[in-house]
Amino acid sequence: MNTRSQRLIVVSNRLPFALGRQGDGTWKIRPGSGGLVTALLPLLRDRGGTWIGWPGTSEGGGDLDAALAQATHDAGYALKPVALTSEEVHNFYLGFSNEIVWPLFHDMHSLCNFRPEYWRTYLNVNRKYADVVAANSNARDFVWVHDYHLMHVASELRRLGSRARLGFFLHIPFPPLDIFVKLPWRFPLLRALLEYDMIGFQTLRDRRNFLQCVRTLVKEARVRGSGQVLAVDVNGHEVRFGSFPISIDYNAFVRNASQPEVTGKVAELKALLPNRQLVLGVDRLDYTKGIPDRLEAFRNALQRYPDLHERITLIQVVVPSRVDIPQYHELKTHIERLVGEINGQFTRPGGWVPIHYVYRSLARVDLLAYYQTAQIALVTPLKDGMNLVAKEFCACSIEEDCVLILSEFAGAAAQLQRGALLVNPYDIEGMADAIHHAFVMPTKERTARMRRMRRSIREQDIFWWIDSFLRAAIAKDLSDFPLPEDYVPRDEWLRDEVIPL
Ligand code: ADP
Ligand code: G6P
Repeated sequence: MNTRSQRLIVVSNRLPFALGRQGDGTWKIRPGSGGLVTALLPLLRDRGGTWIGWPGTSEGGGDLDAALAQATHDAGYALKPVALTSEEVHNFYLGFSNEIVWPLFHDMHSLCNFRPEYWRTYLNVNRKYADVVAANSNARDFVWVHDYHLMHVASELRRLGSRARLGFFLHIPFPPLDIFVKLPWRFPLLRALLEYDMIGFQTLRDRRNFLQCVRTLVKEARVRGSGQVLAVDVNGHEVRFGSFPISIDYNAFVRNASQPEVTGKVAELKALLPNRQLVLGVDRLDYTKGIPDRLEAFRNALQRYPDLHERITLIQVVVPSRVDIPQYHELKTHIERLVGEINGQFTRPGGWVPIHYVYRSLARVDLLAYYQTAQIALVTPLKDGMNLVAKEFCACSIEEDCVLILSEFAGAAAQLQRGALLVNPYDIEGMADAIHHAFVMPTKERTARMRRMRRSIREQDIFWWIDSFLRAAIAKDLSDFPLPEDYVPRDEWLRDEVIPL
């Protein structure tokens, strides 16, 4: 069977945009942010199909349907909404998804709020998604469910008698056994995942963690295979699982970065901030992104390396996110205090301001202009499924003379380790040294590193990702999926102090 001959039904918590009322009462459609939307948009634009998700509002009514119909028409694929009440949004999205699974799977279990009502609503809402999928799919379709909000959709669909093939991709890390077992609902959740036919993880480390949980917690599980894709048999049902590092539409980024609107903005930024290197951070407001530690590292670099003064500026863009969760709100205050302190410490009145802080959602052209203007990117999450910002920055580095400083705990590190300067995001001095190292790095070395990373991102772009996941889901023989030739076991590269070029 060809992967293109099946109709594709994509299911994710959100539709790829958020609907909100404007002052005059009409609906305004804003593009969604975050790695999931960035990655999946090219998929449906390229192949067509149906996208099922929450439209980002608890309101309903006739004019909402009209707004969605217009959005469907503009998008070129069908959009099917899942309506959630405000209580469901609270307990399912803010609660179970973002106060339990998100911190737990990012190894931050002390931030979890294990409230039983969150779990009950999670099950009910997953059932709602399954109902909409069942009403809009048939046995010949491939249903591809995305991310941690919807781990129970397959088991609900099986209950409804669906015979479609069901795939699942986890965009965030899968935690190690010792952390996963803290989840009060660890058994039903793991068994619900095993109801899918195919599961994708971002890295081999996530796959290894999942495998360890399955082997330990599901006694009847039988595992087969040794390559990139493995299979586990549980009571006669086979589920395949493998690692498929998500990526970007590389060619589109390269093309768009050279558009006149972008290059015009690049020239403006360079004129406003002349004679210095720009260091860029772009993150959703999230405690997993390591923004305070990064600011401390920047402060440390300015303290220990006076040659950076007036010759380096950090532009930190923070995109508002999950503002109704108290920890996110506290993080914003923390970041703003640090930026104020550091600027207070080093600013030269009438001249150099070391940190320019931008707290808003940027238009696409502005984001691309920042990517193109910066010489150094600081991507230092404490833990991250992949981190697309790292890949987007490299794609936009058309001159190939920029440096990526990358956390070894971002999924992207497995792929970009030989080109990036890898850092431990908890090591403030180590990150400060990396900032200085990047600042003084000769062009020849920058180019060699950047070229290597861009080649890898170009070869394994978003279309490669889609195709390899779907092929693995329908392949007859798992040995068609050997481990990548350049695969370096994570523990091995963690032992290396310096990654050889
Ligand atoms: P996460 O998925 O945790 O937010 P990623 O780095 O994987 O982290 O993905 C972030 C995505 O959000 C990137 O594709 C980036 O281009 C996109 N993005 C960043 N800023 C904005 C913005 N202002 N508006 C829309 N998307 C944005
Ligand atoms: C991460 C998650 C996505 C999520 C995105 C934005 O990328 O993996 O599932 O959509 O963050 O977060 P939000 O809560 O605004 O959807």
